Amino acid sequence: MDNYTKTETISAKSKALSGQIKVPGDKSISHRALMLGAMAVGETIISNLLEGEDVLHTAEAMRKMGAKISHGSDGLWRVHGVGIGGLKETNSVLDMGNSGTSTRLLMGLVSGQPITTTFTGDASLTKRPMNRVINPLEMMGASFMAQDGGRLPITVKGAQNPLAIEYTLPVASAQVKSAILLAGLNARGQTTVIETHATRDHTENMLRHFGVNVITENLENGAKAIHLTGQQDLMPCAVDVPGDPSSAAFPVIAALINEGSDITISNMGINETRIGLYTTLREMGADITFENQKMQAGELIADIRVKGTGSLKGIDVPEDRIPSMIDEFPILCVAASMAQGTTKMTGLSELRVKESDRLLMMAKGLHACGVDLEMGEDSLVIKGKGKPCIGGACVETALDHRIAMSFLILGSITDEPVSIDDAAPIATSFPNFIELMNDIGLNITSAGYPPIPALG
Ligand code: S3P
Repeated sequence: MDNYTKTETISAKSKALSGQIKVPGDKSISHRALMLGAMAVGETIISNLLEGEDVLHTAEAMRKMGAKISHGSDGLWRVHGVGIGGLKETNSVLDMGNSGTSTRLLMGLVSGQPITTTFTGDASLTKRPMNRVINPLEMMGASFMAQDGGRLPITVKGAQNPLAIEYTLPVASAQVKSAILLAGLNARGQTTVIETHATRDHTENMLRHFGVNVITENLENGAKAIHLTGQQDLMPCAVDVPGDPSSAAFPVIAALINEGSDITISNMGINETRIGLYTTLREMGADITFENQKMQAGELIADIRVKGTGSLKGIDVPEDRIPSMIDEFPILCVAASMAQGTTKMTGLSELRVKESDRLLMMAKGLHACGVDLEMGEDSLVIKGKGKPCIGGACVETALDHRIAMSFLILGSITDEPVSIDDAAPIATSFPNFIELMNDIGLNITSAGYPPIPALG
């Protein structure tokens, strides 16, 4: 990346956390609100959109393909869409930055339209596997030119007449499911995606919110079939994006590991496909309650209250829970590092292909901070001693926002401060992370944070 400046940042012991806060809007829901708004004819108004770099990349891509998107001084985002099949070809390469969700979902969307589009990304995104979306999208009639191993940059030639398919997901991935459904929007007939493990269902919920008939059928053993009939019009609507439970995970665990903490995070999404971490933390002995539950734009919302006793116990995390907490393993490792006893996490091969190899980056960083652990091909076993580790290391974050935030939370309890080599990637999902965490009690210092967003 040109002109990329790393932002070294230090986290030192904090006091007990207190306060009522809001975390930024849900990243997954924000991407989908912009994309579906761009497919509806008329004005969609989005409030509490995550204004992180990943979502801004989606907005920019949708603009380049013909949607009119504005961000008002009232904080609202207004999207005037082009209708199903109405995306226009752009001669710019779509640079998706660090964002796997933007890339994979948009590869799906453009595969169902008769246009040719080229995607690229940063040093992290260009290493990530894209064959998982290319394979089903080819079956729907799109064709692809990719770098070796199905990596970006990738040019997609969308199908003139996309075919509706039935596809069983070989990996539990909401991005792959969503890419197929978005391509299916412009296919004649019924597109069906079968998932053997439930993954986040925000695409289905948001499609329904835009008036599209999507049927979720429960099959045997917890599998689901999602049926979408193509060529239905999307109705513009209002979307109020709830707080992101994956972002809330950082203040939640900061509060749990700092004794005497009491925080409330309001207006949080608690969709059951996203809250595996919270179930796991309760099994570890955490005091977490969901208060004031209600439905909003097809999603379940609550205020999350957390009281920190500073004492957690190690557990075995069940593998069937992984999809509902896939992004939360880095910060769970921080909780496990100070829990009493062993936390065993298995079946984690997907962590190797996230924004970084998260198994490796967490194992390396925790080891450098004095944590006793064993890393396997797809597993991590953390042997907590019931007290904080030493810390005192500068941890490499490999362009991964969640690795960066996890180690800044760890530094709030360690004997010696923990530093990270680069806080800049935090702006992809949680632009005000440092300010907000410091407001409720953390002690993070950084030169030049937050960075100026690249896009607006
Ligand atoms: C996402 C799905 C998950 C998750 C990512 C967001 C989405 O990825 O890790 O941060 O918005 O659909 P996978 O589909 O690769 O599991």
